[in-house]
Amino acid sequence: MGHSASPAMHNAALAHLGLDWRYLAFDVHPDSLRQALEGARAMKFIGVNLTVPHKLLALECVGHLDESARTWGAVNTVLFEGKIDPGEEVPWQPLRCLDPGRVGAVRTRGFNTDADAIIQSIEEDLGVVLRNLSVLLLGAGGAGRTAALRLAAEGVRELHLVNRTAEKAASIAAEIARRYPAVRVATGYPGGAVDLVVNATSLGLKPDDPLPFDARQFSLKQCGAAYDMIYRPAETPFLAEAARAARPVANGLGMLLYQGAKALEIWSGRPAPVPVMRAALRDHVYGP
Ligand code: ATR
Repeated sequence: MGHSASPAMHNAALAHLGLDWRYLAFDVHPDSLRQALEGARAMKFIGVNLTVPHKLLALECVGHLDESARTWGAVNTVLFEGKIDPGEEVPWQPLRCLDPGRVGAVRTRGFNTDADAIIQSIEEDLGVVLRNLSVLLLGAGGAGRTAALRLAAEGVRELHLVNRTAEKAASIAAEIARRYPAVRVATGYPGGAVDLVVNATSLGLKPDDPLPFDARQFSLKQCGAAYDMIYRPAETPFLAEAARAARPVANGLGMLLYQGAKALEIWSGRPAPVPVMRAALRDHVYGP
């Protein structure tokens, strides 16, 4: 987990809030996820973040799923909740509210803060309102699926889904048609212009990666703005090409920031110091 930027972001926020908690990164094999969560529960951790490949596995490993995790089908944030007397009919409370020495039972509750972070980052970083826009989404892996569903829930007008493995895009399109019938969803490249193109593939992470779309079938001149979920490097070839076409661009650092801010609010019950977190994240990822 040496590459994770989350400890820098969260520890800066915890210091700012005056909380004597620490955010640490652990490398956990998927086969050990259940054990790791049990260990954290036994040790009365305040909470945990999970990243790929644990986000789907965690659906089966947490005791209770928050509405957000149920709706988006993945868990990236865990909150440990307790009771003093397990037999009593009182609400479960976050462990921060209880005296650890008196806690008699702890349960694990899974949330998803990624989905809302995608919307917040695209809207704030690009200065757009997603409702009623037409969007081309590249990629139908874990991140692509969450983005597609959340964009549909946000009320985009048109969603074009493209993925190397076409069946995965088709399966998400079918799910959107069922859950969000007002959205016009199709697989394949759009015939004309779209308001926004989003890269949710991993193409661009490595320097020699090709563009995440087929340049014979789509040009960035067809889009109004471009968003790349990748944040390292800061400018992928996809964003560079969109910038050359004079389109507004944003990378995925905002997604990382807002999913973290929302997680911290769940754990702490307090507003996250977003500017502090953004500065710590930028310094860590791009250097001071
Ligand atoms: P994540 O959870 O970050 O979304 P993932 O589920 O492995 O990771 O998804 C990676 C995405 O990048 C997928 O859309 C993947 O396409 P496939 O579904 O066909 O695997 C896409 N991707 C990865 N390498 C690719 C490549 N060389 N060419 C095209 N798409 C690629």
